Amino acid sequence: MDFNAKSGNADTLASGCVVVAVSSPRRLSPEAARLDKASRGQISELIKQGDIRTDCACTTLILNPAGRIKARRVLVVGCGDDKAVSPQAFVRIAASAARAVHDCGATDAASWLTEIEVKDRDLRWKAQQLAIASENVVYRFDELKSDVKPPKKPLRRLSVASADRSDLPVIRDGLRAGRAIARGMNLARTLGNRPGNYCTPSDLADEAKALKEAHPGLKVQILDEKAMEKLGMGALLSVSRGSRQPARLIVMQYNGGAKGDRPTVLVGKGVTFDSGGISLKPGSAMDEMKFDMCGAASVFGTLAAVADMELPINLVGIVPATENLPDGMATKPGDIVTSMSGQTIEILNTDAEGRLILCDALTYAQKFNPERVIDIATLTGACVVALGKHATGLFANDQELADQLLAAGQTSGDRAWQMPLWDEYDEQLKSNFADMANIGGRDAGSITAACFLARYTREYRWAHLDIAGVAWKSGSEKGATGRPVPLLTQFLMERVDDGS
Ligand code: BES
Ligand code: MN
Ligand code: ZN
Repeated sequence: MDFNAKSGNADTLASGCVVVAVSSPRRLSPEAARLDKASRGQISELIKQGDIRTDCACTTLILNPAGRIKARRVLVVGCGDDKAVSPQAFVRIAASAARAVHDCGATDAASWLTEIEVKDRDLRWKAQQLAIASENVVYRFDELKSDVKPPKKPLRRLSVASADRSDLPVIRDGLRAGRAIARGMNLARTLGNRPGNYCTPSDLADEAKALKEAHPGLKVQILDEKAMEKLGMGALLSVSRGSRQPARLIVMQYNGGAKGDRPTVLVGKGVTFDSGGISLKPGSAMDEMKFDMCGAASVFGTLAAVADMELPINLVGIVPATENLPDGMATKPGDIVTSMSGQTIEILNTDAEGRLILCDALTYAQKFNPERVIDIATLTGACVVALGKHATGLFANDQELADQLLAAGQTSGDRAWQMPLWDEYDEQLKSNFADMANIGGRDAGSITAACFLARYTREYRWAHLDIAGVAWKSGSEKGATGRPVPLLTQFLMERVDDGS
């Protein structure tokens, strides 16, 4: 989809659909008022009649324009009672407007939703969100359907408009970031949506090479099992033992910053299918364990967004990729393995495999002399119990880093919530036979998983994002969400702004 910034007025712009905001009590935005005037009161008449609800955020109505309106359609969006809406409400308004435009048959649209006043947010942010919302509604995953009819009249072009010419550079800036983030999300969604047989560890490695083709500045290195053995990655390899598909360690480097600048390292869990291994999962909804590589997918998506924007930073993406399957060779409960760090692990449950592949990748991350390391993983069902499908679970050994991630979550609307990493929880990992067990019992499952990782990240500033609840949706809308690409990209954009 194409985006551009436009200045002008809603009544005189030729477009497939103009989008304007109204809020209660019967308050028209300045450009909605212009349309109303040009149509001799069409909009206020419909509000009076009750056809356009203004009291409730995100109701929409498409009108056939009357009078002297140049556009072929008018979309009126209700924005609720408040003078200024919350950022979350704006995101919802942008999404329902995008959906309505998409469904109305217009191939291009011009949006004046920039007129909506949003608490604590500027015009640049609004443009960014409008771009993300429209890119999200046009997204489809139909690679594996045999008879797909492409939409006859897809939305191809969105102009984000303002009456004031001097707003244009700011809008352009927001659109550029929004487009990059949305494309990164779409890449993450597509990788996540692919089933296990189309998304093996080697397939993910090929995706890294494809990303390098698209962004020649990237450096990509793929380590096979032999190389991992040499490095002593006994924890990672203990997971792939039960699978016929060989594991891969994917390393991607983006060097947009100065040569000596220490990189941010992103480590993404890439379990391309998690059956639980010998500690086999129950059957219901097991198909959704194809999404167990969504952490990895978010690393791909964030790298793509950062490369797209050409951010002046150094960024490394590390993806340990493997399947977790039961087999005669598979690791058994009670087996003890030695991680790359030298610490030994008693594997009491082979379904707690994410931490086993992450701990070796986190040790490997040290070699990049990182400024900070963030791992992203669909790590625990317990995180979904604690926070539901709305918030990412955030853990960190550095409060400044935690605060920066929380802030980026607030700004992007892709929110996280911090959980504790106290010693009392860490004690649950005690093993009678090895340095630690890979599970900490039933209580506080997402915290003990994070405590496990914390034992491998003492050398640098580190945060862990448990995205088990937010990475995909179940039910009739089953599919990957592309989260937390917005949070991570926003975080990196803000590090450029504050020079850290
Ligand atoms: N990939 C799962 C976590 C998961 C489960 C995410 C359900 C989203 C929905 C992870 O590998 C896992 O199986 N974790 C176990 C850990 C347990 C054995 C300590 C879990 O959460 O049940
Ligand atoms: Mn598992
Ligand atoms: Zn898993």
